[in-house]
Amino acid sequence: MHGPYGGVVPELAARRHIETVEAVVLEAMRRATIDWSDLNAIAVTRGPGLAGALLVGVSFGKALAYAMQIPLIGVNHLEGHLASAWIDQPDFPTPCVTLVVSGGHTHLYLVSRNRSCQLLGRTLDDAAGEAFDKAAKMLELGYPGGPAIDRLARTGDAGAIRFPRPYLKQGGLDFSFSGIKTALLYYLRDLDRSGRPRPVGDVAASFQEAIVEVLVEKAFDAVRRCQVRALAVVGGVSANSRLRARLASRAESAGIRLALPPAAYCTDNATAARRS
Ligand code: KG4
Ligand code: ZN
Repeated sequence: MHGPYGGVVPELAARRHIETVEAVVLEAMRRATIDWSDLNAIAVTRGPGLAGALLVGVSFGKALAYAMQIPLIGVNHLEGHLASAWIDQPDFPTPCVTLVVSGGHTHLYLVSRNRSCQLLGRTLDDAAGEAFDKAAKMLELGYPGGPAIDRLARTGDAGAIRFPRPYLKQGGLDFSFSGIKTALLYYLRDLDRSGRPRPVGDVAASFQEAIVEVLVEKAFDAVRRCQVRALAVVGGVSANSRLRARLASRAESAGIRLALPPAAYCTDNATAARRS
């Protein structure tokens, strides 16, 4: 639905939420083979995110909780991403460094033993996922752009074009991705003017490499500075295959425990917790 616009259109998303929220909840309950009487509480994302879409979810969750007289738990969107590190690794240790890398956020946190979070660094402009989506738009690959660039990059040479690695040399744990995006814009403009065809596989691979390198270097720099032995990378962009591969090999050689949620739990999603 959002494809033709190259990004999520908030009003369309909100309307679609109204149309589908009931069916999605019923389908989730069917797949989990649970009944209304099995529910002890209703958890719903309360933000940050798109206000219209959040309003639909919160209203629906409130109505259910009120009708069933069970507690309503408002979940912070970023805490949801942070918690996804423990879905398939319940014994993942703390303290750890967690990189939340999504369409709206590129944030590095130190997560302490009691799971409280301290912000270490964040993007000063675009989020990494946003950079992927904007690049995909320039390359006419549709939306969401991250998965499309990930696929196309497998056909290209990551060393073909040298895009900048912003904020890598300066040190510090903040990020900036708007410079890479602008570099791509100028590269494509000059190429198109010259009349040469776009080597789209090489462009996708080189662009992806620049972003992945910055994310990996900063994440491991944070691990080193905080003197922890565990790193979690969560959020939509953590589904990226190149990012996962580079994180895994770096973690192995450095002896750092790594948590990467299964792909379905990288992008915005929900999961059920059963009382044992
Ligand atoms: O966490 P998420 O589902 O929603 C937000 O909270 O923003 O993340 C969505 C973002 C989009 O920007 C999308 O392009 C990106 O995650 N993404 C990826 C991949 N899969 C999703 N980026 C790079 N590679 C992927 N495989
Ligand atoms: Zn998200």
